[in-house]
Amino acid sequence: MEVKIYKDKQHIAEAFAEKLSGLITSKEKVNIALSGGSTPKVIFDFLAEQFGDKIDWSKLHLYWGDERCVPPIDGQSNFKMTVNHLLSKIDIPFRNIHRVWGENDPSLEAQRYSTLLDKNLPKVNGLPQFDILILGMGDDGHTASIFPHEIELWDTDSHCIVATHPDSGQKRISLTGQIINNADEVCFLVTGENKKHKVLEIINGHQGSEKYPASLVAPNSEKLEWYLDESAASLL
Ligand code: 6PG
Repeated sequence: MEVKIYKDKQHIAEAFAEKLSGLITSKEKVNIALSGGSTPKVIFDFLAEQFGDKIDWSKLHLYWGDERCVPPIDGQSNFKMTVNHLLSKIDIPFRNIHRVWGENDPSLEAQRYSTLLDKNLPKVNGLPQFDILILGMGDDGHTASIFPHEIELWDTDSHCIVATHPDSGQKRISLTGQIINNADEVCFLVTGENKKHKVLEIINGHQGSEKYPASLVAPNSEKLEWYLDESAASLL
């Protein structure tokens, strides 16, 4: 585990964009799973604005680590957020975008997306492998859409599951631990004062932190990086 601390989101965006650009340059094809929420917005904006004409986007295949079960035009959609902050600004082939169909029946979509991963991604350890997978973390310690109240979903023997937001009851499609920990590398992008306690507990492995899904992220490759701003890292 490598912990990288930056002044603010903008500096994280610069560092992560350089990393992704280097990965894309070094490989013929890069399969990436994106996170949702608000943290990626600055990073996607920076990628589009500063690397829009520097990256061969045709080498990048986009997937999502989780998605809200809403239509793709809904303001809650992680896909829509990605369109607004990245996809609408770069020249990436439509066939490279593998969104979760939030408008679909959740159970059917979890099965469809699992099948898609099996079909499209190379197998490592008998499981689909992403080259890189980015994750956020909620202030309750959730990651992707595996929440503490249903942490057992992490170990489900399937690639994707239907999860439920603890407050809103909103259904979500999420990758499970077997896929997340099979990624060649995992990058947490976590910012904000409200995350500092969980960051401290999880990174330092405090007793009781095992109840947070984010603490279960431990890629088989051991390539795990935390990109933190000073606020989120302020207790480390
Ligand atoms: C989602 C995300 C989720 C997110 C965390 C952090 O669909 O909301 O995938 O796991 O990464 O909730 O969200 P913020 O970046 O908004 O703090």
